[in-house]
Amino acid sequence: MEILAAGIQARFREIFGGSPLLVRSPGRVNLIGEHTDYNAGFVLPAAIDKAILFAIRERPGRRCRLFAADLNERHEFDLDGFQRDSKHWPNYLMGVVDQILREGYTLGGFDCVFGGNIPIGAGLSSSAALEAGLAAALNEIFELNIDKLQLVHLARRAENEFVGVQCGIMDQFINIFGMKDRAVLLDCRSLEYQYYPFDGKELSVVLCDTGVRRELASSEYNIRRAQCESAVSILQQFDKNVKSLRDASLDLLEEHRQALGALLFRRSAYVVRENLRVLAACGDLQRGDWQAFGQRIYQSHEGLRDDYEVSSPELNLLIELAAGIPGVLGARMMGAGFGGCTINLVKNKQLENFTGSIEESFRRQSGKNVAIHVARIQAGTSVITAQEAHV
Ligand code: GLA
Repeated sequence: MEILAAGIQARFREIFGGSPLLVRSPGRVNLIGEHTDYNAGFVLPAAIDKAILFAIRERPGRRCRLFAADLNERHEFDLDGFQRDSKHWPNYLMGVVDQILREGYTLGGFDCVFGGNIPIGAGLSSSAALEAGLAAALNEIFELNIDKLQLVHLARRAENEFVGVQCGIMDQFINIFGMKDRAVLLDCRSLEYQYYPFDGKELSVVLCDTGVRRELASSEYNIRRAQCESAVSILQQFDKNVKSLRDASLDLLEEHRQALGALLFRRSAYVVRENLRVLAACGDLQRGDWQAFGQRIYQSHEGLRDDYEVSSPELNLLIELAAGIPGVLGARMMGAGFGGCTINLVKNKQLENFTGSIEESFRRQSGKNVAIHVARIQAGTSVITAQEAHV
């Protein structure tokens, strides 16, 4: 990561000249609690050591100059009039600028070089890292004094309104609030949160990337959201207190199974069970019961595969294979679904064997390669010093 930061800093000097501020903005994993955030439920994510680095500095005037180091692409815009771009990546950044201006803060022009090592489209939230990272960086250089929770909201609205994906709050939240060696239980309704130790001394979080990119994800994602909303409006006819699936119980769903119909029943049952699993999983963490924690992760996958139907053949194969390898406590698909990564909890002692076995058997059974990343739990978005960049 230090090498990466030094590289981005050097690139900035080369392209724009001068000494920029450096900000590190991480990707994330989600241990459990998938598709629950937009149902006002619970999630248990953690920020990781894969990140986007920003080198940024104010410039006179209203012009903003962006350079994507990994793509070798440049984009410029004017604060007084800018629009969505067909290149796509500038939209995540311009969306943030748009939100900050809408909130009435004063910005000036800036130069920014960014790049990193979060695989794009793998379900590790590279988009939230772009949005929240830039929001935090602008907050710093223009001394806007926006508090952390506001940064989260701003970054999320940039994705909802400018990019056009109706994501929940999890990714932007963990990007800003992540802490080294801690997972965060977030109540997506009250936004209360609690840190749980997750230090990787015994276990590693291993990501297996199918390499399948999630073209379906954003349309199917919005469809799942709409299905959850439809279920809520049906349940509301019977119980006014159901404001989101967070408020529904399995009994209530059973009672109104017919009114919901088979599809909405399955979608809602998954969400209600997943919320219960997240809370139970936090109890497991507190007791240090990794076996029980891992079992809930497997159950989460079954629900995502059979009831919420956001998995894919490659993801399912990876879970089946992982379950047969010694030292794996739990595994499931992670993120929006339809591709991207699985998350696996693997005992450190068996890590090497896990990597070799899953690579080989996945290749044999699917004819494709899987990319493996061991994720270490790191702090959320933060300013890093030039010294840190060069260690
Ligand atoms: C994406 C969204 C999140 C969340 C997950 C599914 O990552 O950005 O808000 O809904 O999918 O859990």
